Amino acid sequence: MKTLLKLENVQVGHAASRTTVLRSVSLHVKRGERVALLGRSGAGKTTLFRAINGFLPIAKGRIQFDGRDVAGCRGRGLRLLRRDIGFIAQKHDLVDNLRVHQNVMAGALGYWSAWRTLRYLARPNAQELEQSRQVLAAVGIPEKLHESTSALSGGQQQRVAIARALIQNPKLLLADEPVASLDPGTAREILELMCGLAEERGMALICTLHQPDLAARYFQRVVEIRDGAAIESALPISDAARPFSAPMQPAIAGVGAPGQ
Ligand SMILES: Nc1ncnc2c1ncn2[C@@H]1O[C@H](COP(=O)(O)OP(=O)(O)OP(=O)(O)O)[C@@H](O)[C@H]1O
Ligand SMILES: [Mg+2]
Repeated sequence: MKTLLKLENVQVGHAASRTTVLRSVSLHVKRGERVALLGRSGAGKTTLFRAINGFLPIAKGRIQFDGRDVAGCRGRGLRLLRRDIGFIAQKHDLVDNLRVHQNVMAGALGYWSAWRTLRYLARPNAQELEQSRQVLAAVGIPEKLHESTSALSGGQQQRVAIARALIQNPKLLLADEPVASLDPGTAREILELMCGLAEERGMALICTLHQPDLAARYFQRVVEIRDGAAIESALPISDAARPFSAPMQPAIAGVGAPGQ
């Protein structure tokens, strides 16, 4: 399988605190591969994600994504890069007072003009709503299409955040602690869902977690961020993770890049 993401001796810090968080991270992720990222609080997992999608500059080293040098991406190039890298933020940043379909379609903004975005918010057309409904079906909550996002449970909101990332049809999904605030049963369901969708779509997935047992159960590789570097973990990976056998998901054929 071809390498999708390559980090070579990446050093990243935060200008505000003048600290170097990641000293030298080297990591290769193949197309369609599922990697769990562990590490203590403050180790630099979120920092690493922000460097991968070009939100934080790197001080040294190199990040290549799908043949592109991330540091060299600007303007339109950066926008195109971020289309290909879905991101579920640690506090999934859905807008509470929007309808579910509006939050989902926010994932399509990388494809849309400002005009189309405004028109959608005011009056979505039937085809756009159907696209939203299909991706919500893929995450198991099609009936929530018109509901207010604030009226959903934490697990349901996490599904909306996944739907929003999926609608941009990314090659890589970065999920930052997607199950941190969920009960153990819901956490397993969400991981099964994400891993199943990643496998179906050939999408690579890097997911930060604090639970080594879940990492070993659902992911093909486990990497730990420790002392500013990435360490391949010797955790025994369960057979279920190679390959992951997801329960049947609703059909998602036809959900892809939203109309240009
Ligand atoms: N915007 C920022 N400005 C300055 N320092 C920051 C900023 N964001 C993070 N840091 C610092 O960088 C370090 C790594 O933070 P980061 O959020 O990447 O950790 P993490 O591994 O994601 O932790 P957690 O598991 O708690 O989410 C911490 O010491 C933190 O204080
Ligand atoms: Mg974090």
